[in-house]
Amino acid sequence: MSASREVPTVGLPGGGRMPLIGFGTWKLRHGQARAAVLAALEVGYRHIDTATMYGNEAEVGQALADSGLDRAEVFVTTKIRPSDARRVRDILQQSLQAMQTDYLDLWLVHWPPTRRADSRQLWSELLAAQADQLVRDVGVSNYSLPEIDDLTKASGQAPAVNQIDWGPTLYDGRVLAGHEERSIAVEAYSSLKNTNLDSPALTKIASAHGVTPAQVVLRWHLEHDVTVIPKSAHRDRIAANFDLLGFSLTPDEVAAIDEMAR
Ligand SMILES: NC(=O)c1ccc[n+]([C@@H]2O[C@H](COP(=O)([O-])OP(=O)(O)OC[C@H]3O[C@@H](n4cnc5c(N)ncnc54)[C@H](OP(=O)(O)O)[C@@H]3O)[C@@H](O)[C@H]2O)c1
Repeated sequence: MSASREVPTVGLPGGGRMPLIGFGTWKLRHGQARAAVLAALEVGYRHIDTATMYGNEAEVGQALADSGLDRAEVFVTTKIRPSDARRVRDILQQSLQAMQTDYLDLWLVHWPPTRRADSRQLWSELLAAQADQLVRDVGVSNYSLPEIDDLTKASGQAPAVNQIDWGPTLYDGRVLAGHEERSIAVEAYSSLKNTNLDSPALTKIASAHGVTPAQVVLRWHLEHDVTVIPKSAHRDRIAANFDLLGFSLTPDEVAAIDEMAR
């Protein structure tokens, strides 16, 4: 298998292209965060996912700087907590400063505020940051389709992305179709954590391709055009989780993995 092939991307309405394989950083802190993100960039990842809540934006920024890559080569996402809704611009400036950049590729509302009016207000502030070119694309995380429709109705602009809890055991074709109808890219989180990697359905497919069950799970996302952002603190796993382009799954294999949700 080769990691040097081009990672597929999804075009976003703000003009950015989000690589379908990204590196997740939740639970990575301090030196471990910097080392893991740097390892990911060395291996070839060009998409990093963080959040204010993870407390590692500065380490992500340091790794980006240490990598020597041009800023434009890497797709950078962070997220704002609803509890920070009263100081949105301050939080954005802190995120930008911590990550040593003057723009984000994608800024997400980390989860929906409890009150609908608060959700609409926070969304309007993300749109204002986009209008000011501080953020290329804006989106949400952990939103239902009705919650998304409410934002779209109120503002006239749908989120570019919804980052959701996903994986074979959570597969629901209606959820993917609902996002596709609305031209919203689905980004999956906790895909490995959500999956029993010893499941016979996965081990059988993995041995047929000479890959690991984790690689099968991650590749399954790509077959559905879903972005996936595995996290690991270990260089060998960081590399293996990116090495997904040397094999593909047959429609029957994809269907067998979809069935794990039943
Ligand atoms: N928007 C949200 O609300 C939200 C919520 C959760 C996560 N996220 C984002 O999504 C990213 C991914 O989700 P996640 O971190 O929860 O879970 P994940 O990436 O599905 O799984 C991470 C766990 O799997 C292990 N692992 C990694 N590669 C492996 C492999 N090849 N084989 C076996 N085990 C492996 C890791 O251990 P080691 O580190 O020891 O390798 C870690 O314990 C997060 O890092 C974060 O960026 C977003």
